[in-house]
Amino acid sequence: MTICNFTPLAREVLEKRYLARNYRGEIIETPDELFSRVAGVVAGADRLFDAGASVRKTAARFEEALTSLSFLPNSPCLMNAGRPLGQLAACFVLPVEDNLESIFQSLKDSALIHRTGGGTGFSFGRLRPSGDTIFPASGVTGGPVSFIQLFDAATHLIDRNRVRPGANMGVLPVSHPDIRDFVTVKRDRRLLGNFNLSVAVDDGFIACVKAGRDYPLIHPRTGAVVDRLSAAELLAEMARSAWETGDPGILFLDRINRANPTPVIGRLEATNPCGEQPLLPYESCTLGSINLSRIVNDEAVDCEKLESLVHLAVHFLDNVVEVNRHPVTQTEEWSRMNRKIGLGVMGFADMLILLGIPYQSERAVVLAEEIMACIQRSAVAASGELAARRGNFPAFHQSVFPARGVKRRRNATLTTVAPTGTISLLAGASSSVEPVFAFEVQRRIGNEIFMDEHPIYARYRQEGRPIDPGIFQTAWEVPPHWHLKIQAAFQKYTDNAVSKTVNLPEHITEEQVRELFLQAADMNLKGITVYRDKSLPDQILSACSLK
Ligand code: CDP
Repeated sequence: MTICNFTPLAREVLEKRYLARNYRGEIIETPDELFSRVAGVVAGADRLFDAGASVRKTAARFEEALTSLSFLPNSPCLMNAGRPLGQLAACFVLPVEDNLESIFQSLKDSALIHRTGGGTGFSFGRLRPSGDTIFPASGVTGGPVSFIQLFDAATHLIDRNRVRPGANMGVLPVSHPDIRDFVTVKRDRRLLGNFNLSVAVDDGFIACVKAGRDYPLIHPRTGAVVDRLSAAELLAEMARSAWETGDPGILFLDRINRANPTPVIGRLEATNPCGEQPLLPYESCTLGSINLSRIVNDEAVDCEKLESLVHLAVHFLDNVVEVNRHPVTQTEEWSRMNRKIGLGVMGFADMLILLGIPYQSERAVVLAEEIMACIQRSAVAASGELAARRGNFPAFHQSVFPARGVKRRRNATLTTVAPTGTISLLAGASSSVEPVFAFEVQRRIGNEIFMDEHPIYARYRQEGRPIDPGIFQTAWEVPPHWHLKIQAAFQKYTDNAVSKTVNLPEHITEEQVRELFLQAADMNLKGITVYRDKSLPDQILSACSLK
């Protein structure tokens, strides 16, 4: 039996965010009990499929993986499994059609989802532009940006008393007539605090930027071309806003749709709040992440351990689809139809340090590809094995798989690299595939500030081992292009997308951000998000001097 080994910060996060409380707000479980609760509830799904399955054995295996901090599911699963809310997915996309019924239905649905800790994404591209007429009343609409503010205000209200701040993604196609308002709205820092924004660009737009051509703005209701804009100028505006505030990011929508497993059912138009999970309207997805620092033994990667963790994780996440209790009927129906799951990683930078490989190196890029290829290959095998016992996902015959000769597949997608913002704190691991932010940091959790020393760095110091600056490199020291190279390496073997923030030094120019956007378009990425140091006054983390 593994004993939980938490850092002081992890204990704080556990108490503040994860451990179950009674109605008086008192904590009523230990960390071991938390993992046992989650493992037991999720393993329970075996009963539905496998005659003679030993739920107890499965639960013990799940519990071991959680307790050893080798694999963790996304936060809502840890918080809600076996608890009254029972909603376990982090990611949802909801439709927004060009009528009030649809807008307010999704507003309500998003409130119900936020209450459970899930995040929501929307494409606002179908809404008619500002100034357009509303029938039958002879008024004019405020357009997508005004409705995004409505969703933002609702999120803000639901947020009170919640341990997990509500998060949204608002997407607008680059061809929408209101695109300039959308691109610049967050320059007013009082606006849209609960929204990340992404411009959905297509290959045609990028071609226009490169050729110095204009591109058309299209009325979403009539399909008429209402104006033309300089593509290069719009990209420059996007870069300026991103330089100033971190928003908007970009989604490369054609690339995303080339990987759509069910194009006959619908086109992918939006993602979850952090951009790593494209979903059809009403789909949801539960994410889970393998802690790569746990698969390094004696300065070598333990591939067998990785493969066996992937099999366990796919089994776990497929069970989650089954036991998840949705607050919205349609998300349940759609999520069970495609059974999308998103297995990814955390602790990649830690793994590199343990192996003595600089983040900014071709060796790191090769390792990223090898690790993710192994995860993808094993996940496909695991999903096939589950399908043999439990059946293919219901929309299998409308998917791309039969034409590719695939016979069995339990889940329409298998892999996603999530940011692991909170679960990596719990695991004491570097987040996702990011370089280490800093080896000594101040973190704000709620209203409190915590000093936090990176665990491997602390151990090396205690053991008197040399701290090689090439290996102990922080996110700000990694040149932006190398961030993209690592992102691209993981994306190559990821069904969904890779969450990655390209951390930029404070002194970078707007023009350099614009160039990065263009580089990203050429690197087969599904999106790009940048963040320039100190560009937001309430930056969550700040580095402290190592001296
Ligand atoms: O580490 P944790 O499981 O808490 O979450 P993450 O990997 O940082 O984020 C995964 C996804 O959870 C995000 O893309 C959002 O869909 C959702 N999320 C959210 O809804 N609200 C937050 N405050 C953080 C994440």
